[in-house]
Amino acid sequence: MHTICLIPGDGIGHEVVPAARRVLEAARLPLRFVSAEAGWSTFERLGTSVPDATIKAVQDADATLAGAFTAPSVKVAGFQGAIRYLRRTLDLYANVRPAKTRPVPSCFQDVDMLMVRENTEGLYVEFERRYGDIAIADVKISRSASARIARVAAQLARERRGLVHVVHKANVLPITSGLFLETATDVIRREYADVQAVDIIVDACAMKLVREPASFDVLVTTNLFGDILSDLMAGLVGGLGIAPSANLGERHAIFEPVHGSAPDIAGRGIANPTATILTACLMLDHLKLFEPSARIQSAVDQVLEHGPRTRDLGGDADTETFTDAVIAAYLEA
Ligand code: NAI
Ligand code: MG
Repeated sequence: MHTICLIPGDGIGHEVVPAARRVLEAARLPLRFVSAEAGWSTFERLGTSVPDATIKAVQDADATLAGAFTAPSVKVAGFQGAIRYLRRTLDLYANVRPAKTRPVPSCFQDVDMLMVRENTEGLYVEFERRYGDIAIADVKISRSASARIARVAAQLARERRGLVHVVHKANVLPITSGLFLETATDVIRREYADVQAVDIIVDACAMKLVREPASFDVLVTTNLFGDILSDLMAGLVGGLGIAPSANLGERHAIFEPVHGSAPDIAGRGIANPTATILTACLMLDHLKLFEPSARIQSAVDQVLEHGPRTRDLGGDADTETFTDAVIAAYLEA
């Protein structure tokens, strides 16, 4: 029996996490669910976005499935972005985000790539300050964090097509981005003779992703570039409604869709739960429940192909109807 901690978070997290739970329950897997809270609404109520009890629940669980967390775009005293706080506190240093061709409209063909984003430092150390009309943010890059994320990328590439693009901006930031580039390429070339490391500047990478997405296998990069490029990658294969992700550390793991709390559609029951259901499949793989994970993914693909589809993919199904269809496809298989 595995213990799964569920953190719906904010907005559509309260719609997509219960949908994924319904799929997991219908599959009758050896899972036991506990719930915890975090996010903006938690902050408003308790004055903290991630209560200690939530940290403990994640630590005690075998894996955590999270929805999305709202973060305002203005500085709010005492507020910490929940997912970034969880990633740093639990040292979930690897954010792994697959982008794969699925049977949905306007999806590039033959795409099967993986973003491996460094999750604990970069520009996301959140050290900003303001001097009148000038604002400054620090970026932190360390050799140790760059080396360990490069190892995750190389390890994953080894089980795939053996190619890692190291994405950087060392031409403008030779000290910070340069340290990342030098460390990541060195580690891969020295320790993984069977993996090819290719370096690419982030802006050229953005263009190449759009022009030749099928040429990529694994990408590894620093926090901000990984955040931006992974949404771009999601856009190539059907959008945020279907993009899953994993936050992995040595001891703990939190699985969450790439998308946010989607305040524009929250509360209407129309969010696409696919991203969270596929995220749950990444979680099952992590728990070595490979067979049910593959079965759920093929049920999802079947419904994506034949409908009903949610609105973001041109259909008119609501969250519940789509989820029911996935469960029916799973049980019929
Ligand atoms: P978002 O991902 O929430 O939404 C972007 C657009 O995609 C919206 O039009 C939304 O309706 C649509 N969308 C997203 N997920 C969808 C789904 N499952 N089904 C159908 N449509 C979907 O990003 P946005 O609007 O930039 O941010 C909203 C809030 O979410 C902010 O407070 C932001 O800080 C937070 N956020 C949190 C993340 C996390 O928890 N990891 C990641 C990204 C944003
Ligand atoms: Mg993002």
